[in-house]
Amino acid sequence: MNAITVSAPGKLLLFGEHAVVHNHPAIVTAVNQWLFVTLEKSNDGIFSLIAPDVKINAYQKSFAELTTGEIPLGAQFIEHATARFVDRFPSMCKGIAAKTTSQFSSEFGFGSSSASTVSTLFGLNELYQTHLSSQELFEMAYRVVLEVSKKGSGFDIASALCGGVVYFFTGGKEIRPLYVPQIPLMVGYTGVKTNTATIVTQVEDLKAQYPDRVSQIFDEIETIVKKAEPALLSGDWKTVGDVMNENQIELQKLGVSSEKLDAMCNAARSAGAWGAKLSGAGVGDCMIAVVPDEAREAVAKAIEAVGGQVVPVKTQAEGVRVEKSGFSLPSY
Ligand code: PMV
Repeated sequence: MNAITVSAPGKLLLFGEHAVVHNHPAIVTAVNQWLFVTLEKSNDGIFSLIAPDVKINAYQKSFAELTTGEIPLGAQFIEHATARFVDRFPSMCKGIAAKTTSQFSSEFGFGSSSASTVSTLFGLNELYQTHLSSQELFEMAYRVVLEVSKKGSGFDIASALCGGVVYFFTGGKEIRPLYVPQIPLMVGYTGVKTNTATIVTQVEDLKAQYPDRVSQIFDEIETIVKKAEPALLSGDWKTVGDVMNENQIELQKLGVSSEKLDAMCNAARSAGAWGAKLSGAGVGDCMIAVVPDEAREAVAKAIEAVGGQVVPVKTQAEGVRVEKSGFSLPSY
């Protein structure tokens, strides 16, 4: 085989954002929007990338220069992932041509960076038959995220690898799949792109200033995550909604909500959602709500009425997987 196409799902944090950066658990779900990476072997010592969704048209670099110099934003994760793989297996990988395409906008905060990192490493592992375990793939991918973003708990890597719903503890100390039924989720995009590292730093600064207060909020969030787990497992959406509302209050205390996020969450609740909260770093990106079937239309309208964009997603999405492999792959 000289080429492979791999896909990884997008993700949404259900519970525990920010606290999960500071030694607490979180619960994340994969969603059924996919990022595809095609990798083709070459012997020319060149890494090349075409990623039209992030405006990378014909980027290339010699293997010797990987991770050095100016790297366009859209190429950083795949280039670093390739470099880590080449470092690990220097005599094997002699040149790679990569192409990516995504079903979701990189603006949503669905985790295009982690999905592309995981897809690249998983794809290279298959292409070169290097038999890295899931744990090794997690560690390599997490290292890439820390190299590029400098911050992060790694929850998004675990989600792209495992799919489904995952209980996750900082740095991957615990990664446990939860067998949760289809969640009646509704997702609203604020229209505002968030820079996760900036908001994580903002919360770190708050913690440095008010250590006791912020630790108490993180403990509260951990209690919420622990209440959410059994409710998710049994499909008790009313309780899931209640704990989402509680989690949103803690996130407001951390200063990571926004007027728009609050307005969208309130609109969803008033129109019949069981509960709503922001998802991810906050300030922008998306909010999520759990919504009874009979209220879906009203909730969608209410979110749109306050300026949100409803993004249709389903949970129970599979983790990273091979889509196609062989000697010449049709383009997708
Ligand atoms: O903004 P997102 O969806 O990448 O989520 C960030 C979640 C944080 O807990 C704030 C950071 C992290 O890496 O866990």
